[in-house]
Formats: sequence, structure tokens, C-alpha cells
Amino acid sequence: MKGVILAGGTGSRLHPLTRITNKHLLPIYDRPMIAWAVEALVAAGITDLMVVTGGTHAGEFLRLLGNGHEHGIERLSYGYQERPGGIAEALGLAERFVGDSPVLVMLADNIVERSIRPTVDAFGADPTGARIILTPVEGVEHLRHLGVPRFDDGGRIVEIVEKPEDPPSSYGVTGIYCYEPDVFQVIRTLEPSGRGELEITDVNNHYVGVGSMAYDVLEGFWGDAGESIDAYYEVNDFVRAHGANKG
Ligand code: DAU
Repeated sequence: MKGVILAGGTGSRLHPLTRITNKHLLPIYDRPMIAWAVEALVAAGITDLMVVTGGTHAGEFLRLLGNGHEHGIERLSYGYQERPGGIAEALGLAERFVGDSPVLVMLADNIVERSIRPTVDAFGADPTGARIILTPVEGVEHLRHLGVPRFDDGGRIVEIVEKPEDPPSSYGVTGIYCYEPDVFQVIRTLEPSGRGELEITDVNNHYVGVGSMAYDVLEGFWGDAGESIDAYYEVNDFVRAHGANKG
């Protein structure tokens, strides 16, 4: 399986810190944020990676990661997103890199306490459609910042609502997604959302609609360090005290 780490966007919720650098280069405990996503993928056995970024600090990812070997990456490619046109648009830039492999996509501001290997192994065994990772989330206000699934009585996802005013469940969709290579055809059919972006939730709802969406529920801590300045410090405090990407 190939891996794509998305590290573009504006990081506007962490202004003014992100006026002077890319959000994913800000420190989380003892290393730049993106290094945790790299470690998550490498520890799950994914060592053929592409990092997609944008903006004026893109070159610093090369300085940080180089050819990737120090980080356990076998082959590292880079993609450049001209404008922050959304998560799905950023993923679209990885089409030629991914080719006809299944792919795991991780947003570089997501941090997990426990290994994502169970999901990688499950999708590797049946690499069709999509497989996402959910996390239990406390509090309506927090859920309003995320993608939130609605379930039927049998526990199947029937819809994902992006940033719902009235969350349909108490689970958040994490920024970790597995797709079959036809995801790039799905991305080509998307229309920009109200905020002018190609939304990953629209990609996921495609797979929900055709009945080929699977999911896992993450054990342990999950954090989106880009959600707010308070979330950024909460993730920092957690990782400093407990670590991340544990087996
Ligand atoms: O963190 C989980 C959440 O991530 C999910 O629950 C949501 O369904 C999903 O839409 C996403 O929501 P965010 O509001 O957190 O997305 P954000 O715009 O902050 O982008 C998250 C990451 O995606 C960002 O750290 C880098 C990457 N990205 C984003 C955009 C808009 C890009 O690489 N390029 C982009 O143009």
C-alpha cells in the first residue's frame, strides 16, 4: 500500500503562528507535527510515501525529511498544491504517484496514540472501496468541527455530515482514510463546496452511497492539532505525557 500525507492548506485557525510557517512544521512535543504522521505510516508498514504541501514554506519539508531514509521511508515523493483547494484536491495531486495501488491518506495535523496497523492490514486484505477510522468524541461543540457519521440500526454508515450543526452521532471521522485507486475518478466528479473546496467528505459519501465504505473505531487518543490553538496545546500535552503511535 502507498501512503499520502497531506500538509497543505492555510492553517488559518492557528494564525498568527501559521503566518510565518506551515502549520505542519510547528512543534508537537519534540519534533515538527508532520513527523508524527510519517511515523504512524512507517510503523504501520507503509514506506512508499508522498507528502503534498503548498505555500511559501514547502521547501522546508525537504529540509526536514530529505529522502526520508532517516525516518524509515524507502521512497519519498513530494507534491505541490498551488492553492488550498481542499483535502480532496490535494489528494488528487497524488494520482500518478499512487497508480493502481491501494492508498492510505493521512492529514498531517492528526495525531494518534495507538498504531493504525489494524486498519492498514484490514484494508490490505480487502482493498476495495474505502475504509475510514472513527473516534468517539465528547461534546457537541467538538463534533461540530468534524465530519460526523450517521449510522443505521445495524451500525452501517448511511451518511457523513461535514461540520454538522446538529451532529447525528457522537463519533468523529479522523483524517485517516484508505481508498482503492478509483478514488481519483471519484475526485474528478466533485464540485467545490460552499467554502470553495473539494471535500473529502464528498469522496467518502460516494463510497457510502455505493455500499463500499468500511470503518474501524480507533482505540486511544486522537487529536487534530490544527483545529484550534487550544486543541494544538491539548495534543502537545498529551504527546509529551504519553507519546504517540504506540504498538
Ligand atoms: O481532522 C479530521 C477532520 O479533517 C475530519 O473530521 C473532517 O471531516 C475533514 O474535513 C477535516 O476537517 P478540517 O476542518 O480539520 O480540515 P482542514 O481544512 O483543517 O484540513 C486538514 C488538513 O488537510 C490540513 O492540515 C492539511 C490538509 N489540507 C487541507 C486543505 C484545505 C491540504 O493539504 N490542502 C488543502 O487545501
